[in-house]
Amino acid sequence: MFDARKPSPAVATLRPSEYTAALVHALRAEPSRVRGARVLEIGCGSGVVLAVLGGLGAVSLCGVDIEDDAVATGQALLRDLGHEAEIHRGDMWLPVAGRRFDLIVANLPHFPMDHLEISGRLSTWSSGGIDGREFLDPLLEGLSEHFTANGRAIITHNGFVDVERSRRILERHGLAMHIVRTVLVHIPNEKIDRMTSTILQAEEGRSIHRYGPHVFADMHIVEIAAAGTRG
Ligand SMILES: C[S@@+](CC[C@H](N)C(=O)[O-])C[C@H]1O[C@@H](n2cnc3c(N)ncnc32)[C@H](O)[C@@H]1O
Repeated sequence: MFDARKPSPAVATLRPSEYTAALVHALRAEPSRVRGARVLEIGCGSGVVLAVLGGLGAVSLCGVDIEDDAVATGQALLRDLGHEAEIHRGDMWLPVAGRRFDLIVANLPHFPMDHLEISGRLSTWSSGGIDGREFLDPLLEGLSEHFTANGRAIITHNGFVDVERSRRILERHGLAMHIVRTVLVHIPNEKIDRMTSTILQAEEGRSIHRYGPHVFADMHIVEIAAAGTRG
């Protein structure tokens, strides 16, 4: 049985991050978005975001993750907390092809760097490829065909990963995005040292803030819905 006081190696690898905390904070701030919703999380990792959504009154919980450990860990957490959930192992939209959801959440890897393991995390935890958009773009491209009529998404979006490009992708699908809130996240040195250099150079002083050896970056919580339906 899952025991939160004794995290297994898999639970430690999947420990929630500041990104997860910011996403949870935004979801908890507006529970009306969640109550009664059929919910999907792409990249559900530890399962904690699905647990939050279950606690806020979602009527069904579905998760997808590419890692076997995430599926097992998420299933154990949700079962122990008394939530029914289906969690699928697979790539992004494939396990939910043809299905639609009222609320889709995601905190996918989108740090611009090569695929490397950092701080005991698998590379699939935070690396988004050279431009950081390897998973973000297919996520955005697939949203409209998985939304119900009033469907919306809440996702994490690093400030240094071209927010305007995301806006343009969504516009092509009849969707609009707005930034719900922006928080500062700490970027460890081992991560900033691996960031794609052109992005680091362009973003230092804009969305990346350095104080001696300490580096922070703007991270947005973004809401996405059909254009003209905000509110
Ligand atoms: C930053 S973690 C967030 C996890 C979760 N929100 C949490 O806090 O525990 C990103 C997750 O996305 C998963 N992931 C990466 N690439 C994926 C893909 N192509 N399809 C589905 N999940 C993916 C990773 O395995 C990881 O669990």
